[in-house]
Amino acid sequence: MITQKMLDELRNSVNNRMSAKRFKHTAEVEKMAEYLGALYAPDKINELRAAALLHDITKEYSADYHLKICAEHDIELDADAIFAPKTFHARTAAVIIPEEYAEFATEEIISAVRWHTTGRADMTLLEKLIYLADYIDMSRTFEDCVRLREMFMSSEPEKMTDVERVAHLRTVLIASFDMTISALLMDGLPISRDTVEARNYLIREALANR
Ligand SMILES: [Fe+2]
Ligand SMILES: [Fe+2]
Repeated sequence: MITQKMLDELRNSVNNRMSAKRFKHTAEVEKMAEYLGALYAPDKINELRAAALLHDITKEYSADYHLKICAEHDIELDADAIFAPKTFHARTAAVIIPEEYAEFATEEIISAVRWHTTGRADMTLLEKLIYLADYIDMSRTFEDCVRLREMFMSSEPEKMTDVERVAHLRTVLIASFDMTISALLMDGLPISRDTVEARNYLIREALANR
């Protein structure tokens, strides 16, 4: 069980290993994860807060250092991943957690960290919530992030029925993947297959639930 004390110690440790700017984002993702957890996974709030605190622990490593960690852990990077260095940190954080934060190294926390940048097909609830918390945390001012936060909050998910709330999460996630894919297209960058599969999976689910 993850206690408040464990979270407080983790927050301190994480603060000590990153820049002030990155920590501010991390602390905001923790708050957003707590808010989303209260709506969607009340029995997993501390797991979500831990995953939020851990999600970017390697974000400030150099590309070379990420590649070194991947090589040491036999992590194969496919051709597209190599050209998407912004996604490296999700892989490396996932392998650092068991080594440096073993008390938080549960399957659900590790997978939430592992998939927080690209998403993937058939995401777990914790993966979805960390992905979204990272996208819409209150410190984000990027236009797409603000738009997505508005989209999520303005519909007042706290007043919805459980069924409506789950559908709302799906709608917002699809919009986020659409924004990510559009931005990558505009910038002429490769699109992770995992992101395309994440989007398609949710769209199939939405169509099946009509
Ligand atoms: Fe990240
Ligand atoms: Fe992040």
